[in-house]
Amino acid sequence: MEKFLTLEEIQAAAQAVQKRTSYHPRVGMILGSGLGELADMVEAPDIIPFGEIPHWPQSTVPGHVGRLVIGRLHGQDVMVLQGRVHYYEGYSMDRVTLPVRVMQQLHMEMLFVTNAAGAIHPDYDPGDVMLITDHIALIAMAGLNPLRGPNLETFGPRFPDMSQVYDRGLMALAREEAQRTGVTLREGVYVCLSGPSFESPADLRFLRTIGADAVGMSTVPEVIVARHNNMRVLGLSGISNKANLDGSTVTTHEEVLAAGKMIVPKLSKIMLGVLDRL
Ligand code: HPA
Repeated sequence: MEKFLTLEEIQAAAQAVQKRTSYHPRVGMILGSGLGELADMVEAPDIIPFGEIPHWPQSTVPGHVGRLVIGRLHGQDVMVLQGRVHYYEGYSMDRVTLPVRVMQQLHMEMLFVTNAAGAIHPDYDPGDVMLITDHIALIAMAGLNPLRGPNLETFGPRFPDMSQVYDRGLMALAREEAQRTGVTLREGVYVCLSGPSFESPADLRFLRTIGADAVGMSTVPEVIVARHNNMRVLGLSGISNKANLDGSTVTTHEEVLAAGKMIVPKLSKIMLGVLDRL
């Protein structure tokens, strides 16, 4: 059998984080490509570079700062990952999702997760924010499930339910906060591929056919691990580009990062509004 991260390794990472902060966050947040600015709003933060936590994977992608920011944000203690790692960087799935295990080890009840995504839905445009109402775990269906390997019984069962992945109560709050603050909130299904290559036009037509509204290279692994332990999940995609179903345009990482500038203020209004109301 392959070697998977053990409970002891997860505990070592969690203890290293705990030693560096006196906060007790209920909410863990993961900020996607170009969306890390929200972490700068955390008050009186304890900051821990990913490199100083044992077993923690390092971000290698531009647009991902690579540190934990723990502090107070709109009335809540939060732990924010400013930057994340992706499977395509070369980490195994259990390492990609170690941060969520650490959140669980530190008793966090909720995961707020964001990502940059390409719009597959024809009406969705760069700069839009999409509430993730469900996902297609294509990456997991293809065998890359983060729960593969010995089941860590302390966190959850061998065969966890995924009938309601994204929390209805948190979705309702997000919709209300979007309306209150005048942000147009799209809704839809996010599909996760491994990347790092973007999709071909035929890939995208396939994804549209199977019911995806937005496509990206993250989030689903972390969310599956979060649900293994019954964390309540809120997922928001920042639409950075229109997926290119007819092959007429080119998608670049620079475009993804530039769209983040438009998206951060909208995402912030929704996420901070939800935090206020927890
Ligand atoms: N495809 C996959 N991942 C992405 C995209 C995309 O078009 N945009 C941002 N992340």
